[in-house]
Amino acid sequence: MTVAEKQTLGFQAEVNQLLHLMIHSLYSNKEIFIRELISNASDAADKLRFKALENSALYEGDSDLLLKIEVDKAKRLLILSDNGIGMSREEVIDNLGTIAKSGTKEFLASLTGEKAKDSQLIGQFGVGFYSAFIVAEKITVNTRAAGLSADEAVRWESTGNGQYTIEKINKTTRGTEIILHLKEGEEEFLESWQLRNTILKYSDHITLPINMKKELTVSESDKKKDDKPEQKEIWEKVNNATALWTLPKNQITEEDYKAFYKHVAHDFQDPLVWSHNKVEGKQEYTTLLYIPSQAPFDLWNHEKPRGLKLYVNRVFIMDDAEQFLPRYLRFIKGIVDSNNLPLNISREILQNNKSVDNIRSAVTKRILELLSNLSKEKPEQYKQFWNAFGNVLKEGLAEDFNNREALSKLLRFSTTNCAEQTISLENYVQRMKPNQEKVYYITAENYFAANNSPHLEIFREKEIEVLLLYDRIDEWLVAHLTEFNGKSLQSVAKDADISGIADEKGKETQKKNEDEFKSLLTQMKEILGDKVKEIRISQRLTSSPACIINEQNALSAPMQRILQATGQSVPLSKPILELNPEHRLVQRLKEEQDDTRLADWTHLLLEESILAEGGHLEDPAAFVKRLNSLLN
Ligand SMILES: Nc1ncnc2c1ncn2[C@@H]1O[C@H](COP(=O)(O)OP(=O)(O)OP(=O)(O)O)[C@@H](O)[C@H]1O
Ligand SMILES: [Mg+2]
Repeated sequence: MTVAEKQTLGFQAEVNQLLHLMIHSLYSNKEIFIRELISNASDAADKLRFKALENSALYEGDSDLLLKIEVDKAKRLLILSDNGIGMSREEVIDNLGTIAKSGTKEFLASLTGEKAKDSQLIGQFGVGFYSAFIVAEKITVNTRAAGLSADEAVRWESTGNGQYTIEKINKTTRGTEIILHLKEGEEEFLESWQLRNTILKYSDHITLPINMKKELTVSESDKKKDDKPEQKEIWEKVNNATALWTLPKNQITEEDYKAFYKHVAHDFQDPLVWSHNKVEGKQEYTTLLYIPSQAPFDLWNHEKPRGLKLYVNRVFIMDDAEQFLPRYLRFIKGIVDSNNLPLNISREILQNNKSVDNIRSAVTKRILELLSNLSKEKPEQYKQFWNAFGNVLKEGLAEDFNNREALSKLLRFSTTNCAEQTISLENYVQRMKPNQEKVYYITAENYFAANNSPHLEIFREKEIEVLLLYDRIDEWLVAHLTEFNGKSLQSVAKDADISGIADEKGKETQKKNEDEFKSLLTQMKEILGDKVKEIRISQRLTSSPACIINEQNALSAPMQRILQATGQSVPLSKPILELNPEHRLVQRLKEEQDDTRLADWTHLLLEESILAEGGHLEDPAAFVKRLNSLLN
């Protein structure tokens, strides 16, 4: 078979799935296909301009890049033709027959079948070219890659039902022509005013000029018929086509900013906030940075490239230039346009470039400022931000030493007084008790384990607030955030001196108890042997009989479990078992004469304390047996 023949190929399974879902859940938003196709044409123009920097022959004498949109009402066709980079046969198969995005499978698996939810998810995923099938019963793509000859052009055609055909054609003009054969009922997209409105709404400020045929008045069209039947059609530019970020701020409306966000971020939702800045002086550059209002479904997919769109002197250079953002700000979307970087800059050069580093630190500062203002001026929106991206921001405490202070002010926590993650360290410090010197926290696997931990008993009694940390990243957070405003952070589950929070009377009782329970403690330590480092009388328990705590410098219990789960060998630190002298169980133990029963109770108290922390027992069967025998 020669390549000239028409070949029928099947879509990748994921394409079929996505097509089906998209047509059903995005119908109410169907006009977005225009934005998607325009966005692709704009990308194609950017790519050609970039390649032509090295090889201007690619322009083939036509460097006036633009997109033409026209309709054929009789045949129900909507036609978009660009003179951008175009596609070769292989590229057509790769780009229009498969989905190359990483995380596609995970994305499809996360869909629920619920229209509203799914349409948001699909919006975040990016529907791209395939969205045209919402309104088209058939799509024809004629394309020729820049640099190839006219007879190396390709036609791709599909009705969106599992298959497409591909054949060789002749196409003298470079670029891509997309012909949508509209479904019955979609006539609105054949109306010039409707198209113009949609273009203005979504694509006014993309740099590519979008041209449509001028609507002739009746007299003009009469004249045309009579005088010069061969007169050329008049095309006119319908969008603004200036790069939005180059305009003065006072000429840009909120709607412009939002529409541009949707173009760069491929998000359906409005952004939460943005910051637009021109920097002049030795280094000149403009940034337009957006904070999205929700987290993308693949925020934790570390393979996914993220970053800003990079322009040099308004020429598009690359997507996802990650060197302009620290990793913990990877959720930021937007552009950076530099006047100083060379046009032929590559990703490798970006990595070791002083100007890039400067821009990155300025961008970082700007975002942290933006967040700080948001938290003060719009707490509700900040809460939304925190819920979406708080855990990513926390990574910054470990990564970005220079901005640690600014970052620590942006943190929000749940505490023993507040279930929602809304308490800042500043709030906490303001509410500290007069004699309280430390910021107390507890780490645990989830909110309930944290909030119900026996370690909190004395703090609750003394009405001392404790931060509840229960996100995975929190262990790393406290490893790097050891103090705030001169107050050190202290885990309540570690063996620190908490006598400072006990009153005088408490100290006396403690002394008395230590004497009274001395021999019980010795007996119990003999029973438990190496399983514990020490057994002692607790100052922190008011209702539980016992708890375990860790040595001040040891890894916390949840951290030990995380490391073990990832297969690392963990230096085992033995816990300290603390007993509550007021508890009836502990008091009864002091009187226990039966050695076997004392041993059983002792083991049981340790095991219970481990369980209360969310830990795992080495020998759960033995625990159950002991419990049953004591219940008998
Ligand atoms: N007009 C065009 N000219 C050249 N290539 C195109 C054109 N339209 C689409 N393509 C190619 O097809 C690919 C798929 O387009 P699609 O819009 O589905 O995804 P995308 O643009 O890569 O990502 P997204 O739109 O989701 O951000 C593009 O990456 C591009 O390579
Ligand atoms: Mg696209």
